[in-house]
Amino acid sequence: MNTFPSKLDLSTEFAGRRALVTGGSRGIGAAVAQRLLDAGARVVLTARSRHADTPAGATFLEGDLGSEAGAKAVGAQALAALGGLDILVNNAGGTRVHLPNSEAISDAEWVDSLNLNFLAAVRVTYAVLGALREATSASIVNVSAGGVLPMGGAVAHYAAAKAALNNFSRSLAKELAPARIRVNIVTPGAVITPGGDAGREVLTKAIGLTKEQLFARLPLGRPGRADEVAEMVAFLVSPRGEWITGHNHYVDGGYAELVG
Ligand SMILES: NC(=O)c1ccc[n+]([C@@H]2O[C@H](COP(=O)([O-])OP(=O)(O)OC[C@H]3O[C@@H](n4cnc5c(N)ncnc54)[C@H](OP(=O)(O)O)[C@@H]3O)[C@@H](O)[C@H]2O)c1
Repeated sequence: MNTFPSKLDLSTEFAGRRALVTGGSRGIGAAVAQRLLDAGARVVLTARSRHADTPAGATFLEGDLGSEAGAKAVGAQALAALGGLDILVNNAGGTRVHLPNSEAISDAEWVDSLNLNFLAAVRVTYAVLGALREATSASIVNVSAGGVLPMGGAVAHYAAAKAALNNFSRSLAKELAPARIRVNIVTPGAVITPGGDAGREVLTKAIGLTKEQLFARLPLGRPGRADEVAEMVAFLVSPRGEWITGHNHYVDGGYAELVG
């Protein structure tokens, strides 16, 4: 028996749902915010600044997730704007590339990376968890990163922070399952975004490859698009994903399983 209203018409799937997308001003976060808006959600997105592709239909909340105070403020202000929360997408993240190796990463850079790529998700989650507990079908997606180990020491701080995010997500999924709050990880591979492109520019130069040569190494032979990652996030936070929690879902053109 099909218990879903319609698997074919997804255009109102998120009607009445309230979502917070961190790092939603560009790249993958902007695509996620737009995808949720397109299916009827009310969306608050947050970043330090607007960009050209920041979705106009969302409420923009300016905030820096690099500190405890900034992350907590983002959570509180999002709840005030939406009057509750059903969907949290902890997407903000990124890294600088440190050459020639991890010895070039200063202590301050380690702290900054842990703050942005790991603790921001922890802090925002706890700032909104009370509201998620009150929602009927709440869901969290944490955006991680794959293929970072093969990049070696140049992004060791980023790889370590994302590994912490993965383990936190699994602990939280187990803890919150009895409350019917689902927690999943989405791990993009090489996706064309302003942040992803900037990092790859430095890395490919350092290893003597062109970007095209790097992308040709992916099993599906091309980089990903932000909307392809957004589609996975939308599936997981939708009613179609209601029996899925605690997993890491790769959207990476086959890289992690077939190459990495
Ligand atoms: N693109 C890829 O190839 C790739 C691969 C693996 C994983 N990922 C992950 O996917 C997520 C999105 O990456 P992306 O490629 O879309 O990056 P992006 O193009 O650099 O976008 C990052 C977003 O996060 C925001 N942000 C950055 N630092 C912030 C801070 N301190 N406080 C608040 N917001 C901040 C940015 O806005 P502001 O700068 O204006 O604040 C922007 O909205 C990240 O978690 C990244 O690690 C991406």
